[in-house]
Amino acid sequence: MLATASITFVEFVLAIHILAVVIGFGGVFAFPLVFGAAARTDPAVIPMLLRVRQQLGRYLINPGLLVVVLAGVYLASKEHQWGNFYVGWGVLAALVLGALEGSLIIRTAGRLADQAERDLAATAVPSGGQRTSATWSSEYTAAMRRLTFAGNAMAAIVVLTVFFMATHLGA
Ligand code: HEM
Repeated sequence: MLATASITFVEFVLAIHILAVVIGFGGVFAFPLVFGAAARTDPAVIPMLLRVRQQLGRYLINPGLLVVVLAGVYLASKEHQWGNFYVGWGVLAALVLGALEGSLIIRTAGRLADQAERDLAATAVPSGGQRTSATWSSEYTAAMRRLTFAGNAMAAIVVLTVFFMATHLGA
């Protein structure tokens, strides 16, 4: 028997909810790989990559989170799911993700980009040569540790939340 092609509005909103998670948070998983490869092979691109991370937060991750929340609130209301653990967890996760991105990662990435530029400028490169290593200041190393920790925490929260949502934990 052929499946019907029609979908309900609730199904459409669920697809938007999931799509916003994929688009918004995909970068949180990809960025450490890109950054690690750049740090090993061409440290000169690090300031630019940190500014890209800042832009991702401003124009992809936080707007994506807003769409996740709006669609999630619609789904929870329409399907009378507010009393279930996975929805409460989703609200908490959204708050923590927004706080980590908005008040820690975006700011730290910007400051780190400036610091990386200063550190690179202070390290000599043979004229015409390509930079293959860099000496980072203690300010840079400490802020990078904070950025990495916050990024990993976000990735862990996203993974956990997707599991709780997909299994409708507590329903
Ligand atoms: C205000 C916060 C949120 C609310 C109220 C909420 C609500 C919901 C509801 C009610 C569903 C079930 C829809 C259905 O099965 O018809 C759902 C599904 C889902 N949610 Fe959320 N959500 C929130 C945040 C999040 C976050 C932060 C993530 C991931 C980072 C997420 C990922 C998902 C995924 C992947 C599904 C699909 C699970 C499935 O049905 O297979 N949600 N959400």
